[in-house]
This record gives sequence, structure tokens and C-alpha cells, in this order.
Amino acid sequence: MADVEYAIRDVVSAAHKLEAAGRHIDYLNVGDPVQFGFQPPEHVREALSRAVMDGHNYYTSSEGLPELRDEIAIKEGKKGLGVSADDVLVTNGISEALEMVLDSIVEEGDEVLLPGPYYPPYASYIRLNGGRPVEFETGPGPGIDLESVRSKITPRTVAICIINPNNPTGYVLGERALKGLVDLANEHNLYIICDEIYDQITFDDSFAGIGRVAGDSPVILLNGFSKVHLMTGWRLGYIALGPSKLLDPLRGALPKLARVRICANTPVQYAALESLRGPQGYIQEFVEKLRERRDLVVRRLNAMPGISCAKPQGAFYTFPSIDTDRFPSDRDFVMGLLEQKGVLTVHGSGFGKKYGSGHFRIVYLPDPDMLESAMDRIEEYVS
Ligand SMILES: Cc1ncc(COP(=O)(O)O)c(C=O)c1O
Repeated sequence: MADVEYAIRDVVSAAHKLEAAGRHIDYLNVGDPVQFGFQPPEHVREALSRAVMDGHNYYTSSEGLPELRDEIAIKEGKKGLGVSADDVLVTNGISEALEMVLDSIVEEGDEVLLPGPYYPPYASYIRLNGGRPVEFETGPGPGIDLESVRSKITPRTVAICIINPNNPTGYVLGERALKGLVDLANEHNLYIICDEIYDQITFDDSFAGIGRVAGDSPVILLNGFSKVHLMTGWRLGYIALGPSKLLDPLRGALPKLARVRICANTPVQYAALESLRGPQGYIQEFVEKLRERRDLVVRRLNAMPGISCAKPQGAFYTFPSIDTDRFPSDRDFVMGLLEQKGVLTVHGSGFGKKYGSGHFRIVYLPDPDMLESAMDRIEEYVS
């Protein structure tokens, strides 16, 4: 357990202490739209209560509700990944999906490539299985230096993870970069674990799912309902296994793990079904609000001395760099900002020391007034 950490939540206890002492804190640390005034749309909330009132309060099959697995296969098929309902396993959030996948493939001493900076649970679950996370650099732009990724592959490498759009940087990989990574993975017989939880939260170009370039590569797709469908607290996600024969052992192993934990939340699976089948307009409304908030935050941050911030193309995070001559430790920067100005962000090194250090992560989900006031305080702090 020594190496298990989750920076996004680990910083909260310091904020709670200040709050208990009467200070006002602006929380810009957690990527949860529902904590910032967004809610699942009414037709989806109604579907949840209807499921409960109609008596769908039992254990469902371990792999998930058949209608939902069908609908997920259709959604991912439209994005380019040819999967059937049998290849879909419904989980209690991507968090559980990720744990199951890494438990199934990582053995003592194995290495797993992670995009640096990365979403922290990836490293924690790899380490819990005795493996070693190895970061490859992903810039703020759409490109990836494939030769640098190649140089990190060893005989112990078993998988490469792709998070697209990325948390914490908000960058979005285009089709060419994805194809490069897929080809490289195939050359070295690696599993490709791809997390597309922000697939419909993009601002510029149309999003390319990994399925568009995967062919018959061993793609393990992770996705869920927390972000796009605003269901963070309901905890629902899934694994979709691509058609590759190389994944056949996992087609046996993952359902075994699924049976051990019985099933995902049944009424929420009915609500998720409605979120896929019902009106989709709320997603565009959400993205438009985020676009305005992103532009505000990026403009304000780039006007501050010692701060530089690329424009994220997806998700709802910015990952500005800080002047390391003035602020040698990103953790001290974040703690100072919290203590002096009451704004809670997350230190970049919590997303991997190699490429995360010297940065901090801001969630731009709050309404524009709160963001302006938080930006004022960050500006006072760095000035
Ligand atoms: C890239 C990524 N994957 C997975 C998750 C967690 O997803 P879930 O709520 O489905 O467990 C998050 C949450 O922030 C995330 O950013």
C-alpha cells in the first residue's frame, strides 16, 4: 500500500481543516460537474426513480443488464470499435473497470506505459499488482514523440494506456497520433488500454475514438457515465473488449472477476440506458458552458506573471506550468495558495513526477463568477 496515492483527494484534508477554522475555501480540485451545479437531465433522473419504484432493486447479471450492454455496443460501434454486447462488461465506474483490467494483466515486475502526466489511479493499481508505471511524454499539443515512447518499451512492458481526452492536461490526441501508438503497441505485442470517459467533451476538432484506428489490435476500451452524462455519484462505467483474438484470455478472466463482486448498481443501469437512448441535447449545453469557462481561465492564467497555460481541447481541466525558479515545489505552491488565498487546486506531481512536476491542475467547472474570483486570488498569490 505504501505507493498508493490519489493526489486529487489527498489534498482535501488540509482544506477541510482550514474550513473547520472558519475559512472560506474554493474547491477547484475535483472533476465532479455535479458538485458545481450540473445535474443528470430530468429524463435520466426520472428513469432512475422509475427503476426503483418498478422494483428493479435486485442483483442483475454480473456482466450487466443485457439491454444496456447492447446499447453500449451500439455507441462504441458508432465511434468505430466493432464490439458486440458480449464484449461489454458493466462496472461500478471506470475506477472498478480499471482495477479489474490491471488485476488481470499486470504481474510482479511488469511495466505499463502511462501518458505523462496521467490520472493517478492508473499508477496506484499498477503498483498494487507489483508492476511499474513508466511514463511517456505527451505534450500540450496533439503530437506524440513515438521514438521516445519506443525507447521506453522493454521485455517487461505488457500494456500501453491512452487517456483521450486527457486528465489532467485536457489535450486530445488526433487520429494520426493514435494510429502511431497503436502500431507501436502491435509491434511489441502490448495490450492497448484506452480511457475515453471524456469522449463527448471536446471543443475543437471532432473526436476520434481509438476504434477508428484499432483494426484488430488488442484494445481494451474503458468508458463510463460520470462525466458526459453527469452521473458521478451513481458510479457506472464499462469495459468493452475489441475483437482481437489476443483478448480471448481476458474474455474469460474479466467475467470471473465481475462475478466475485456480484454486479453493478441495477437501478443506475436503467438510468444509464435512458441516458444513451433518450434526448442528448444536454451534452452540447454542458460543453458550451465549459468552453466559456475554459476560455476565461486560460485568458486569466496566461496574463499572470510566471504562469503559462496551454488551451485544453477537451475535458474540464487546465494544467498550467509555474515558474520553477520562484516556486521550486508544485506541492508548496498549491499548499501556499490554499493557506494564503483559500483556493484548492492539485499539485502537478500528483499526476506523475516526471511530467507533472512544476504544474498545478485547475478544474474549470465552477460558474464564471466563482472562477473570476478564484483567478483574482491566484493572481494576487503569484504576484
Ligand atoms: C481519465 C479518468 N478515468 C476515470 C475516471 C473515474 O471514472 P469513474 O467515475 O467512472 O470511476 C476519471 C475521473 O476523474 C478520469 O478522469
